[in-house]
Formats: sequence, C-alpha cells, structure tokens
Amino acid sequence: MSFNITLQPSGHEFAANDGESVLTAGLNHGLSLPYGCRNGACGACKGTIVSGEVDYGERNTSCLSEDDKAAGVILCCQAQPKTDVMINVKELSSAAEIKPKIMPARVIKLHKLSHDVMQLELKLPDSQRMQFLAGQYIEVLLKGGKRRAFSIANAPHQDDVIILQIRHVPDGYFSNHVFDEMQEKALLRIEGPFGGFYLREETERPVIMLGGGTGYAPLNGMLEHAHSLEMKNQFHLFCGVRAKRDIYMQDQVAALTKKMSNLNFTAVLSDPEAADNWSGETGYVHETVLNQFADLSGFDIYMSGPPPMVNAAKAAFMKQGAVEDQMFSDAFEYSADAQKASDL
Ligand code: FES
Repeated sequence: MSFNITLQPSGHEFAANDGESVLTAGLNHGLSLPYGCRNGACGACKGTIVSGEVDYGERNTSCLSEDDKAAGVILCCQAQPKTDVMINVKELSSAAEIKPKIMPARVIKLHKLSHDVMQLELKLPDSQRMQFLAGQYIEVLLKGGKRRAFSIANAPHQDDVIILQIRHVPDGYFSNHVFDEMQEKALLRIEGPFGGFYLREETERPVIMLGGGTGYAPLNGMLEHAHSLEMKNQFHLFCGVRAKRDIYMQDQVAALTKKMSNLNFTAVLSDPEAADNWSGETGYVHETVLNQFADLSGFDIYMSGPPPMVNAAKAAFMKQGAVEDQMFSDAFEYSADAQKASDL
C-alpha cells in the first residue's frame, strides 16, 4: 500500500511505499529534503504535519521534545505515513544549505574501470549519512594534513555510499597508494560535501555536459539524479579523452542511455592511436560542441575537467552565444581537481 505525500510550500508530490519513511521516499524521488543522521538523533529532518497521520513504530525519536510533538513537528527520517499526508518542510535549494562534515568511510569496492582509472566505493557508518547535491565533491584527509579532492560520481538518493573515480598519476602520492596498495576494507577519513558545481533542477532548457578525463565523474552523478527526478530536458554529454582505451565511462554511459532516452553521448579523442581505428570525433572536446551547436544561448552548460579545458571551453562558448549564468564550473573546485589530477 502506498500513500501520497505533498510538501509545502513547494507543492512537490510523491508516493511512499509501505515501510518507507517520508525522507526515504522523497530522496528516492530525487527531492532535496534536509537531513543529517537518518536515525532520529539530530533533528535536521524536522517538518510540520499539516494534514494526515504518520507513525514511528519502535523507531528512535529522541530529538523530538514534547513541545515539538504538540506543535505537530515530525522527523521525516523516521515517520512513515499512515494516510495521505501534507507536510511543511524547507527543501534545500543550494549547496550553501548543506554543512560539510568529517566522517570515516570504509572502502568496500575497488574496481578498475580502465588502465588508469580506479573506481572506489566508500561505505559510510550505518549511523551517519552525507547529504550532498549531485555533482559536489569530497576531500580525502591524508596524513600530514594533506587532502585530495574527488568528485562524487553517484547520485544523492544513493547516500549510503560515496563513489569516486580516481586517475592513476605517475608518482602521485595518493593515486599510487590506491592503485598499488589499497585493499578493500581500508578505512579513510573524508570531509564534504563541497562545491557549487551541482545540477540545477528547475529548468527546462536542454543541457550540454562536457567532461575531460575523470571530469566525467560528477556528470555521472548529475545524470543519475536527473533520471531519478524524471527530468525531461535533453542532455548532450561529451567526454574528451586521449585515445580509445581512455574511454573508461563507456559502460556507465551505456547503462544511462538505456534508461534515459533524452541522453545522447559523444566521445571525443584528442590523440587516437593508429590501432584505435577511430572514425568518431577527434580534437578538443569543446570544439566538437561548437561544431554541433551554432547557437549556445538556449543551453545550460556543465563543464568538468582540467582547468585549461574548462577555461578554453568557457571562452569559446561565450563567443558562440552561451549565457554566463547558465554555465557551471568552479575555478576553485578545478584547482582542487587540478591537485587531484597532478596528485602532488
Ligand atoms: S536526519 Fe537526523 S533526526 Fe532525522
């Protein structure tokens, strides 16, 4: 049996399946409801019931005071609807509303996606969650105060894990460790989420996404999120890599295009090898975009990758009509990414 949930003041509506909390159902529908611990202890998910009934069973509600209860305040992470409900709750609209936090994370899967890209799946403690917006990044805290920044490659509704895609850099302090020594079950400390590079959901404009190398990672998270939101915008994804063996994202993009008929994908090789027999696009990835779209004024554009790629793309796109407010990238984040890329 499922019940309808309506949020105020946004008017968002979704259904909660039997046994699902208001928060879980909302996140599964791609909504950015506020939360922290997801176990009834912190109060970050509080909302106020306007109509209908919820039930907590034996679940923890220790942070709800008697006054809260009398005022109709509920914990969205613990409350399960017993009828259709209307709830007043402030949904998150920007990254500034999410406070970064430090937490331990265990490596539960190391998966080599290509000759030089490793995917790390990190599991957070059962009692903790990291709320993030699709496309944000975390930092791995290393000995001696060093940090490495990596984009989150998964979508926010899958918040019990953090997925990272790490390129192997010769002599890279952290990437050498990941490729040569790291084992599953290793424990890391991470801090996040950070960054203003996240998917803007309230637009019907078509979207161009440009990823250079592992700059694909946050775009993957955004596309998974767009799918969970059932966004109808057309998405044009362009990934630039050197040669065919560097197209590490092929399987992930294939899985996305299978479920998103509004997504098309173009791989662009900057330096294909003779053995590649490549008949697709070549050159700089942003030049392919310029060749395909004579007027960029009607698009939202997301760019993720090395700073020279992002800077060249930005300047060239503006000359072809792109609107500055509709282009998303972040110089600081890219400097963090650059540190990741060069892995000093
Ligand atoms: S998220 Fe902490 S109490 Fe609900």
